[in-house]
Amino acid sequence: MSNEINFVIDGVEVTGKPGQTILEACDEAGIYIPRLCRHPELTPRGSCRLCTVLVNGRPQAACTQPITEGMIVESETEELNENRRNIIDMLFVEGNHFCMFCERSGNCELQALGYRFGILAPKYDYFYPKREIDATHPDIFIDRNRCILCGRCVEASRTVDGKGVFEFVGRGPERKIAINAEQFLKDTNLKITDKAADVCPVGAIIKKRTAFTTPIGKRKYDKKPIGSDIEEKRKKD
Ligand code: FES
Repeated sequence: MSNEINFVIDGVEVTGKPGQTILEACDEAGIYIPRLCRHPELTPRGSCRLCTVLVNGRPQAACTQPITEGMIVESETEELNENRRNIIDMLFVEGNHFCMFCERSGNCELQALGYRFGILAPKYDYFYPKREIDATHPDIFIDRNRCILCGRCVEASRTVDGKGVFEFVGRGPERKIAINAEQFLKDTNLKITDKAADVCPVGAIIKKRTAFTTPIGKRKYDKKPIGSDIEEKRKKD
């Protein structure tokens, strides 16, 4: 079996390896496909659909779809980018995201995607849901107002930490992240060293006393747009 798989994305020829997803092969080739739920150290869940591309004309999640020889992929189309913009827009109004007061500002992937897609003001009406904050744990707090239900913490706790601290409960607008204790985070077996405490893309799970170690203005996405680390690889080649 050949160790190379060739495909085309937006007119660019890419060579990947067997078993890679479209997103992984494109990352290596320096082509950024927007993503939110995907974390490089976790099994992809395919839940946010931000990475949706067209594969031979059919919509597929780039983070879960394996590459195949000769496939034609489209990502940077007006329609796909409009869909991505709408997903980001909806996430902003569905929760309570007040970036200017959030400790994750500048390191938040949702905020960074908002900037990348030129979203400056909400397009839809805010839901202003009432969601709980739990600061009972000595080292970690959860602010469910900022949770985007990406599932990274669920996946990390279950598969990396072997604990199952987090899970989703409820449906539709009532869906929220739950913990493996009757009421409070302090009663769970979550530790600050757990992967689950480390993978939140937004400001929903935060380690206490670390928020301003890097000042606002000097954080990852304050300096460069999200995805530019991947795109820079291509410029160097
Ligand atoms: Fe692929 Fe979220 S990054 S579905």
